[in-house]
Amino acid sequence: MCAIEVTPVVSTERLVLRGPMVTDAAPIAALASDRNVAGMTGHIPHPYGVADAEGFIARVQDMDWDREACWVVEHHVFGVVGAVGLKAGERPELGYWIGRPFWNRGYATEAVRGALKWVKRDWRRHVVVAGHFADNPASGQVLCKAGFLYTGDVERRVSAARARNDVPTRMMVWLA
Ligand SMILES: CC(C)(COP(=O)(O)OP(=O)(O)OC[C@H]1O[C@@H](n2cnc3c(N)ncnc32)[C@H](O)[C@@H]1OP(=O)(O)O)[C@@H](O)C(=O)NCCC(=O)NCCS
Repeated sequence: MCAIEVTPVVSTERLVLRGPMVTDAAPIAALASDRNVAGMTGHIPHPYGVADAEGFIARVQDMDWDREACWVVEHHVFGVVGAVGLKAGERPELGYWIGRPFWNRGYATEAVRGALKWVKRDWRRHVVVAGHFADNPASGQVLCKAGFLYTGDVERRVSAARARNDVPTRMMVWLA
């Protein structure tokens, strides 16, 4: 007998969060190669090409979904618009990005809320942490709208795209 592993899918009003497929590499690379996107994340380098996106997809396809999670964010008309993930740890850490053509339409907030619903109902975790670079207030706004609170801690974090390891990062926490 063989076990069939099914990657969790989360549907929200306008979006679907699903595991990435090889065919997503081109749209992911096109959106994530924007310095304004990569530079606000910890680990997306700049430049970022299709081979980088293929590496990302392969890592997610090997992922142990009991420990961590990662979805592409898909819109039924526009296709892939971004990604959301939860990094493994005692307190899983949320990360996300939305491609610049799709900013300020509420997609990040909707995707994060959907991911947190899954965290509580399906993953059965009750604490998630997140941090946003101090020069990225839009991300702080997304996290506040999704129910995160500031802890008061400011950590110095890596930004691969900026080639820095000391970007002031405001830490936040969400409790189910
Ligand atoms: C941050 C990011 C995810 C937001 O995505 P989005 O889909 O535009 O987010 P939403 O539309 O759900 O919400 C954005 C909120 O930020 C607000 N905002 C936008 N620019 C802002 C700014 N310069 N200062 C303060 N708030 C700002 C918007 O008004 C909106 O809040 P509102 O609904 O209360 O008006 C997106 O810009 C992004 O991917 N940036 C690059 C990568 C990144 O920052 N990832 C997060 C790492 S922590």
